Amino acid sequence: MSADGKLAGCERKQIRISSDEDMTRVKNLRRKYNAILVGVGTVLADDPHLTVKNATYDENPIRIVLDSDGRMPDSARVLDDKAPTVVITNEECRKDWPGVETVRCGKGRVDLTRAMTILAEEYGVENIIVEGGGEVIASFFREKLVDKYTVFVGGLVIGGRTAPTPADGDGWVSEGGVKLTLTNSEVLGNGVLLTFIPSY
Ligand SMILES: NC(=O)c1ccc[n+]([C@@H]2O[C@H](COP(=O)([O-])OP(=O)(O)OC[C@H]3O[C@@H](n4cnc5c(N)ncnc54)[C@H](OP(=O)(O)O)[C@@H]3O)[C@@H](O)[C@H]2O)c1
Repeated sequence: MSADGKLAGCERKQIRISSDEDMTRVKNLRRKYNAILVGVGTVLADDPHLTVKNATYDENPIRIVLDSDGRMPDSARVLDDKAPTVVITNEECRKDWPGVETVRCGKGRVDLTRAMTILAEEYGVENIIVEGGGEVIASFFREKLVDKYTVFVGGLVIGGRTAPTPADGDGWVSEGGVKLTLTNSEVLGNGVLLTFIPSY
């Protein structure tokens, strides 16, 4: 996030916040996880690939998109053939995307806790890096599913009261907030990487 706590500008377009050192960290981090997860808001705003550079199909982590009502277009880059993809919708959604697996769980919105169980039991996923955006990260905190929270704070002010932040959604994720314990801080070029462990 930027030094004023924004993930992007008010128009929700992607903006470079990471230093070169942080970009390298993120690329290496993806290799350590079974899966990378984003919400459909990030797919619609940024159209990311969510792959590791030069990795083969089998080396890439599984890409997971939370998309309750099937709003993701067939042309989204996460649907390409560079890595396996699982789209998670609600139970009412009938949309399918060519070449990818669809899991349906939850009424209205995706039931995150159940989705995690299905991913573990049916896809062998043991750990997930949640790359955003703010709506999805807030839901992971609300469901007490965050084991570790890392945030790079870059040397940039974006501004704007409607600009997305790392935990958006409907408001307090928990009464009094979720308490975090700082376990590490590290300067990475023109910014700092903070690592926290939540206590629920
Ligand atoms: N700086 C960064 O590192 C970074 C990283 C990622 C994103 N971003 C920015 O963040 C913005 C996108 O964030 P966002 O908050 O709008 O979108 P998001 O968190 O990526 O996706 C939110 C959407 O996911 C769907 N969803 C399905 N199940 C959900 C659940 N259980 N909980 C929450 N959401 C669920 C919802 O849509 P349905 O109700 O239709 O399912 C919801 O609107 C963009 O501006 C992007 O550029 C920045």
